[in-house]
Amino acid sequence: MKNLLAYTLLLMIGFVTALYFGFYHMMPKSATTFDDEQTGLKDQLVFKFSHVVADNTPKGLAAKKFAELVHEKSDGKISIQIFSNGSLYSDIEEINALKENQVQFIAPSTSKLGMLSPEWLALDLPFAFSNYSAVQEGLHGAIGQRLFGTLQKDGLKGMAYWTNGFKQITSNKGPIQQPADLKNQSLRIMQSDMIEKQFKLLGAKPYQESFNSTFQLLETKKVDGEENTISNIYSKKFYHIQDYMTISNHGYLGYVVLTDQSFFDRQTPETKRILLEAMEETTAWNEKHAEQMNKDQLEDIKRESPIAIHELTPAERQKWMKALDPLYDEAEKTIGSTLIKQIRELRARCEHSPIHAFQEEDESK
Ligand code: LMR
Repeated sequence: MKNLLAYTLLLMIGFVTALYFGFYHMMPKSATTFDDEQTGLKDQLVFKFSHVVADNTPKGLAAKKFAELVHEKSDGKISIQIFSNGSLYSDIEEINALKENQVQFIAPSTSKLGMLSPEWLALDLPFAFSNYSAVQEGLHGAIGQRLFGTLQKDGLKGMAYWTNGFKQITSNKGPIQQPADLKNQSLRIMQSDMIEKQFKLLGAKPYQESFNSTFQLLETKKVDGEENTISNIYSKKFYHIQDYMTISNHGYLGYVVLTDQSFFDRQTPETKRILLEAMEETTAWNEKHAEQMNKDQLEDIKRESPIAIHELTPAERQKWMKALDPLYDEAEKTIGSTLIKQIRELRARCEHSPIHAFQEEDESK
């Protein structure tokens, strides 16, 4: 009897051991695996940064840089998760997502803030800035401060201005050299009433649509063309499905990095310091790299596609400016004269400074 019991016990131990080793690889590992990197994760702050462009763009790279700096400065205690290409929210949804604390940082183009306060549309005035230094002078100075002030009523905090560059026009319908060439051309534009007025004034048919629907609109020929910076035209491959591009530099496209004021107020002084410091360093980095990136990608477009490119001559630029000038008088009435006066003054001061975006090489010849 004793022997029987001993045999049964041995058999059971053998059976359990065989079961354990035989099925070990199928057992859930998380409960048993210890990972050094996981230590302290429960204390980590995770913030979401949502944007709509590709990673290899001035905004995409700046968001990445910001995340790296925050990680470094907080010894990994604060993590910024980036959602690019509109993978989380479209440009139409992201401001609400920020207000509802679904995401903690966004960087919409300033044009899209016209939905909150019309003052932002002043930055969309045609040819408002003639080069990158004019943009920086305006946004780091009184114009930028004034616009940041408008965010308070919506409970938002402007953390920085990031730059992309100057907009160009692409089309499938025909080359665009004179303002009249835009007549009857349909174009995808950003959500900005100022941009809409600008194209209507030239007889074009502008459609305000989300950024991430642009490729499809062009591909299915729902619109003839669009306006954007080289980096967006390049990274979203618009140039693959467009026959003509005009280097017009007719408008500026830059970003305002936003967070929700009450979210920011809830952070500890140390977290605030880290976020602000990282943002300041990122902004300086972005200003240093955006222009070159647009220049390099223009060369890539020339190398990679047969798209016909026309660059406005200084005389043609003057013609375009003249055709679009009535918008300034109108904007004084709708946006307010102080801001428009500041923009006009900046434009007058900088318009004759030697370098327009992308014309550097020609003018040094
Ligand atoms: C656009 O909608 O064309 C741009 O605002 C996209 C971007 O964020 O650069």
